Amino acid sequence: MKIVIGCDHGGFELKEVIKKFLSNEMKVTPDDVGTFSNDSVDYPDIGIKVAKKVQSGEFERGILICGTGIGMSIVANRFPKIRAALCHDTYTARMSREHNNSNILVIGGRITEENLTKEIVRIWLASKFQGGRHQRRLDEITDMENTIISN
Ligand code: RB5
Repeated sequence: MKIVIGCDHGGFELKEVIKKFLSNEMKVTPDDVGTFSNDSVDYPDIGIKVAKKVQSGEFERGILICGTGIGMSIVANRFPKIRAALCHDTYTARMSREHNNSNILVIGGRITEENLTKEIVRIWLASKFQGGRHQRRLDEITDMENTIISN
């Protein structure tokens, strides 16, 4: 699975933890679009990069981290076809896949501690979209996106 990852300064340390976890334990090397230090950057710049790469299909999944996860969620969910889920626990991570077919996982770098983050990432990657009535609901979102684009 091709994964793209990005963060602002509020998520930099947790991004490094997630990258190591992905490489060492999940055997996936994510494409890292930055940021690469604790120096202050604007989260939209990074959120846009990751969202575009998932939206285009270049990457199947994305992971975004900022201080709270809120800014990255707002940015990513402005892109049609992006279903970004801010997850604080393993239950929301699993449900975001099974019911919402989330394609970007968002984590709060100043909120979620390292071991819980690893479990969230593990479960988010392993969980499968259930389709059925959930697909119908996602289709309603796609219809809405198409209506907005054509108006
Ligand atoms: C940066 O200080 C912080 O505002 C950002 O990381 C994020 O939490 C925004 O939603």
